[in-house]
Amino acid sequence: MVKSANTRKPATGAARNPRALAAKLLAKLAGGSSLTVLFQEELGQVTPADRALIKAICFGVARYWPRLNALTEGFLNKPMKAKDRDIHCLLLVGFYQLLYMRTADHAAVAETVEAARRLKKPWAAGLINGVLRRLQREQALHLARLKDDPALLHACPDWLLKRLQGAWPEQWQQIAEAYNRKPPMSLRVNLAKVSRQDYIRELTAGSQLSRPIPDVPSGLVLDGTPDVVDLPGFAEGWVSVQDGGAQLAGCLLDPRPGQRVLDACAAPGGKTGHLLELECSIELTAIDVDRDRLQRVTENLQRLQLSDSVRVCQGDAAKPDGAWAEKLYDRILLDVPCSATGVIRRHPDIKVLRRDADIAQLVQKQQEILVAVWPLLKPGGRLLYATCSVLPEENQQQVERFLAQYPDAREQIIEASWGHSCSVGRQTLPGEATMDGFYYACLEKLN
Ligand SMILES: C[S@@+](CC[C@H](N)C(=O)[O-])C[C@H]1O[C@@H](n2cnc3c(N)ncnc32)[C@H](O)[C@@H]1O
Repeated sequence: MVKSANTRKPATGAARNPRALAAKLLAKLAGGSSLTVLFQEELGQVTPADRALIKAICFGVARYWPRLNALTEGFLNKPMKAKDRDIHCLLLVGFYQLLYMRTADHAAVAETVEAARRLKKPWAAGLINGVLRRLQREQALHLARLKDDPALLHACPDWLLKRLQGAWPEQWQQIAEAYNRKPPMSLRVNLAKVSRQDYIRELTAGSQLSRPIPDVPSGLVLDGTPDVVDLPGFAEGWVSVQDGGAQLAGCLLDPRPGQRVLDACAAPGGKTGHLLELECSIELTAIDVDRDRLQRVTENLQRLQLSDSVRVCQGDAAKPDGAWAEKLYDRILLDVPCSATGVIRRHPDIKVLRRDADIAQLVQKQQEILVAVWPLLKPGGRLLYATCSVLPEENQQQVERFLAQYPDAREQIIEASWGHSCSVGRQTLPGEATMDGFYYACLEKLN
């Protein structure tokens, strides 16, 4: 956790005050922008120490957003106007520091009050000061008020908690709690270049502790979160940052020498690189509908020194046309767009961005993609349907419906010791065996 020792500097505006900038970014998050994109676009001029503090605050506020938001209601006579969303978010920043960060309370209050001035809203300085000091005095009282509401207790959006309770009656509390824990940094060792054991030795030589992820041959979990560029062989493609659950995709698709493989929703290319590490002689095509995100596939493959082995092109998997859709494939990876309810540990802004109504739209889009891509699979070929969701509507219910409608599709049962067996396919849950929540179903096309 970042301490507050880096504060007090000759600030000249929000850009020079980490808390003010965090509040601005959080206001944009509330308006629908993802933190990943905001960090890329808005932190270019910020010092590394301030960047770390801003990220810690933004991730933390997003993680506890439902609870922090409800807390503010006990302090404000009326909701803030839309034009003052930045001040509302600054209040959340103050609450988060006082409740969850190790920042000294007096520094947290003083810096947050100062941030209101940096946001050019000096009228809000008194309000922020008064509310934060009251929270210091009345914290226990206000937190007790939240205990009766499970959604506030778990800091999980109400709609999502209800869906988790229905889908995972035994595990919903464990999932909601996992959402609030920072995940470990997980790596995928490129076994085509170095064995996992040798890589562990390299890390140990640099005083970096690590341990293998059970059931994931290339997976490692690190103690701490070193900068990736300091990892041995990172620039040479020995290793990539990837959750253990995500690494199961390559193993399940199991590409064989010379096969034609389609990665139909490829960006940013985490699984694309893994497929080539597993079998470099495949004829791999990677498509994504989003041209900007596709650029990240190319960059990732360049670092792995694998960009010559793959055809990367923009395409809509729901409307196959163009050169990529002209031939049939032996293997298809369908890592469809989804609610991302399995990866909230790593992307806590999902709690703010996602709405209940999104689920039905995502299910519809996933179905369109699955139905459209199925004809591109050769008879005897394998399609791996994958999501990073824990919601059955996007997972087993989606695949069950497909199997009922397509008699040339058959499930290949995944025999594994990881995760949970579903009516169709298999699911990992957030926090179990270090992994995020992923769903996989293997489908075979009958001859
Ligand atoms: C879960 S992400 C894929 C992650 C990727 N497989 C990886 O491991 O790095 C889903 C991707 O699907 C893409 N997508 C959404 N709709 C699509 C469509 N109709 N056709 C192709 N790609 C699509 C999104 O742009 C997004 O990059």
